[in-house]
Amino acid sequence: MQIVHSIAECRAFVQAARKLGQSIGFVPTMGALHEGHLSLMRRAREDCDTVVASVFVNPTQFGPRGDLARYPRNLERDAELAESVGVDLIFAPANAEMYPEGFTTCVTQQGQAVKSLEGQFRPGHFRGVLTVCLKLFHVVTPHRAYFGRKDYQQALLVTRMVRDLDLPIQIVVCETVRGPDGLALSSRNQYLAPLARNQAKCINRGLGRARAALAKGERSAIELADLIRREIVAAGPCEIDYIAIADPETLAPVETLDKPAVALVAVRIGETRLIDNCTLEP
Ligand code: PAJ
Repeated sequence: MQIVHSIAECRAFVQAARKLGQSIGFVPTMGALHEGHLSLMRRAREDCDTVVASVFVNPTQFGPRGDLARYPRNLERDAELAESVGVDLIFAPANAEMYPEGFTTCVTQQGQAVKSLEGQFRPGHFRGVLTVCLKLFHVVTPHRAYFGRKDYQQALLVTRMVRDLDLPIQIVVCETVRGPDGLALSSRNQYLAPLARNQAKCINRGLGRARAALAKGERSAIELADLIRREIVAAGPCEIDYIAIADPETLAPVETLDKPAVALVAVRIGETRLIDNCTLEP
């Protein structure tokens, strides 16, 4: 496995692979790799001849009060993990490589899907995500790019961008990987003290409650969201940014579960913000 830091080196690597007729799989990450990231890399390894992963803590997707400064960084450890699942190249650019002085162009999206949920609580977040993803796609020129369902809205908006801008890339969305206690794996889980981590299990428990109620015939989105809310509130002090039952494509709020929907949750426990989601299929 190679690690490169410049766009030119990354381009040279993938161009050589493409010349050999190889398919390129790409897994963009911000590092602090865990089994969630590794599941995407394994899937890319299965599907593609060459696998590229990026490790870049993208400053433009963090808000002014976000956790950019304390975001965990350990390229050496990330490289070991990526190599263990068969990644061929890590692209780990510095900020100045991605955003040289004078950088002024960005990707914005319109419509409810980008404005709601994370878009509402983290203004500018998706502009940063979409801009960096488009840049990375241009550098890596993958045939397929792999995203986690854990960040449901992100995967949806990236898929939309690829369609809208006619990028010749297939976006593959992979299932959420969870710990044995059901908590969705996240680089931010390491901020949680043991008590808070225990409390955080309430999110998946709440989603499970909603799914169980749906299976028993509950069709009211308000009731389902309320079940999730009660489970979360009962677990201890936290701030709920949103609990939404939404259309899987538009993210518009759903009132009655007469077709598949998705339940999405964002909760702050102490200083740590956690998100999770699940499908609701009546
Ligand atoms: P990051 O949070 O590092 O996540 C990288 C990828 O791993 C994303 O597609 C995310 O959805 C996926 N992922 C994270 N936790 C997961 C889990 N428990 N199960 C399955 N997949 C999981 O998302 C980003 O970075 C950035 O926004 C990025 C796309 C790299 C742009 O900067």
